[in-house]
Amino acid sequence: MSKDKVQIFDTTLRDGEQVPGCKLDTEQKLVIAERLELLGVDVIEAGFPISSPGDFKSVSEIAKLIKKDITICGLTRAVKKDIEVAADALKYAKYPRIHTGIGTSESHIKYKFNSNKDAIIEKAVAAVKYAKTFVEDVEFFAEDAGRTDNEFLAKICEELIKVGVTVLNIPDTTGYCLPEEYGAKIKYLRENVTGIHKVTLSCHCHNDLGLATANSIAGVSNGARQIECTINGIGERAGNTSLEEVVMVLRQHPSLGLDTNINSKLLFDTSKMVSEKMGMVVQPNKAIVGANAFAHSSGIHQDGVIKNRETYEIIDPADVGVNESSIILTARSGRAALAYRAKIVGYELTKVQLDEVYQEFLKFADTKKEVLDEDIHKIIAATDVAIKKVM
Ligand code: KIV
Ligand code: ZN
Repeated sequence: MSKDKVQIFDTTLRDGEQVPGCKLDTEQKLVIAERLELLGVDVIEAGFPISSPGDFKSVSEIAKLIKKDITICGLTRAVKKDIEVAADALKYAKYPRIHTGIGTSESHIKYKFNSNKDAIIEKAVAAVKYAKTFVEDVEFFAEDAGRTDNEFLAKICEELIKVGVTVLNIPDTTGYCLPEEYGAKIKYLRENVTGIHKVTLSCHCHNDLGLATANSIAGVSNGARQIECTINGIGERAGNTSLEEVVMVLRQHPSLGLDTNINSKLLFDTSKMVSEKMGMVVQPNKAIVGANAFAHSSGIHQDGVIKNRETYEIIDPADVGVNESSIILTARSGRAALAYRAKIVGYELTKVQLDEVYQEFLKFADTKKEVLDEDIHKIIAATDVAIKKVM
């Protein structure tokens, strides 16, 4: 069965870079942009050009650098000057996109803009129309769409389609939605907006309740065809949807009938590169790219993985660029893991020898968080058994 493509819109350099303390200079952004190109993203949101001269420069340089068929996108508010500056920054891009928008929820309309629904529609339409005078490809974000009532959202979407918007971004800006709710929102738009087939619906989910990946998957399962995400899920507050997670969810679940253009073998290295450049560590238990994502430390799991990797792993580590699963020795490890690691460092243990070494191992392991390869030599030396070296 041929799969439908979901476009990957990477916003590491825009929403991701909004993390306090993670600011990147143009040089660093160019290196990351080149890596994103290699990784196979469809859209790079390179920055928010009016926000600072540095961001303008970064967007402009990325637009010059990226030569493949990748869209380069710049963010704007629904403000004329923002749009003019973004258009200028994007002028060298082969495929430029202006990403403009405005808040659409009750609270944004009332507290941020002290406005009303009709005036918001008017501003949104004017912004898209103006952006279209510079570029063909205009994406609109309905900020806080997650908490916007569906009827109003449908109305604004319909008006924007009339003036030629190409992508409608439905952000769950505050990370509030449940997956069923977010999926139903996308479904509602697909079923109730005239002309919706002319545009791409995009998911942009935040992770305040840890649901960004689930919500994005619910979105594409209900007809959206673009996911906005960042490497390592970095971004404001609890972050954005993690690119590596959505890519691997789609790949590991062929029954969804969806896939991306991402070369998943580059995921681990890309994660490391972004983490280093931004000075932002990846939590060890992070799905797909965390240091422990393919590490096994309890005896029961280790025994299973040594017999057959698939007993406890749903992803082949090589598919995401990790060399191999690791068997970590701790006080919870069993004989199978000890024999396995002992063999790697050069000892072939018989059953009797293993029993004896294992008792010594347990005493040692209780004093340490992790037993390292060099410790195995010490443990074996502390036993009386004569052990055959295999190296
Ligand atoms: O979260 C959000 O709503 C955004 C928009 C600016 C797209 O980042
Ligand atoms: Zn966002």
